Amino acid sequence: MDKRISKITNGLKGRITIPSDKSISHRAVIFSSLANGKSVIKNFSKGHDPLSTLEVCKNLGINYEFINNELHITSQGRLQTPENPLYCGNSGTTMRLMAGVLAGQKFNSTLTGDQSLSKRPMKRIIEPLSLMGASIDSNDNRAPLKISGAKLHGIDYTSRLASAQVKSAILLAGLFADGKTVFTEPYLSRNHTELMLSYMGADIRTNGLTVEISKSELKPQTIEISGDISSAAYFIAAGLIVPDSEIILQNIGLNPTRTGILDVLKSMGADIEILDKRTVSNEITGDLRVCTSDLKSCEISGDLIPRLIDEIPVIAVLATQAEGTTVIKNAEDLRNKESDRIRAVVTELKKLGADIEETQDGMIINGKTPLKGGAEVDTYNDHRLAMSLYTAGLISEKEILIKDFDWINISFPEFESIFAQISG
Ligand code: S3P
Repeated sequence: MDKRISKITNGLKGRITIPSDKSISHRAVIFSSLANGKSVIKNFSKGHDPLSTLEVCKNLGINYEFINNELHITSQGRLQTPENPLYCGNSGTTMRLMAGVLAGQKFNSTLTGDQSLSKRPMKRIIEPLSLMGASIDSNDNRAPLKISGAKLHGIDYTSRLASAQVKSAILLAGLFADGKTVFTEPYLSRNHTELMLSYMGADIRTNGLTVEISKSELKPQTIEISGDISSAAYFIAAGLIVPDSEIILQNIGLNPTRTGILDVLKSMGADIEILDKRTVSNEITGDLRVCTSDLKSCEISGDLIPRLIDEIPVIAVLATQAEGTTVIKNAEDLRNKESDRIRAVVTELKKLGADIEETQDGMIINGKTPLKGGAEVDTYNDHRLAMSLYTAGLISEKEILIKDFDWINISFPEFESIFAQISG
């Protein structure tokens, strides 16, 4: 489905609730599937990616039921041999985390994915899992992954990448391994796995950039999931650049490993306020108030990158409206996401009139540049590109046409209906 977006002339106003965090939704399903008994997940994401995880777990023998806005998962704490390959759709999180779980089972399994997922690098998990004793055949380090269940042992592994998917795969394998598994990363990536495993009773400890885990049984829990800051990012950006806007976003996950975007926006001079911070199911949550702001440029690199990795496309849109030169570097792994997000963002924002250049590990954006629009843009079958381009369309002089806009369903099917609530 193609989508036409025109400039918004009235400010965005109102109070919205952002749907559930995608990363936490995946983990809630996977970990509940490993716990013996009934778990209740409140406010589970309806995005296609978390639903892929749910389907994979169903094919591994768990039962689930949606009751109102709650997902009830019943498991015997043991997974069953799947009859067919396990299809992970577009979801890297599903494939990488499940590879960690499946490596230590007593049965064989195969993980497959769509065209985009089948191109994404899996060596980053195959290598450390193999060191633990896993047996994984792949298509030149890409999906499908054929996993022969094996007896695993703990390792002490230092990762080159700050990747929560890699960290989580190893920690999940560690749940089934003999001895201690120790994982160290160069910068802190999102720590939802550590927080939720701890909440469910695992023997896990964190010390700075190192996490240790030992074989554990998980206890079923009630897990309440907050709104996804990565989904909120498009509304935050819109509220900052559409003139005369003031919006309140309710119930947003504010785990510090995810709030790099808020730190960057503060440094850019954004008028954003956090209201009513609280802790829900071991995660920090709060409301955000965002008002139209004059922005200035910033530099984003190093340990900030994993804390805002998924928000870089929409930060690039914001940077076109910030006075000065914004430099984003050390973000080379963006080329391995659902699309090559460095190339895709630069190519498409240029079509709208942005002054933006690609570098090997990021991009350089000169602002403030009016976006002239009047162009057709591509999403590269990437949900985050689609929503970032929508945000750019709101301030483009002439209407833009976004091709294949329905890729937003991967993480945020409610995107347009929530937008309608603030655009009057
Ligand atoms: C995710 C981790 C990040 C992120 C992805 C979700 C997760 O990927 O980009 O959207 O849920 O663990 P990497 O671990 O590859 O950086």
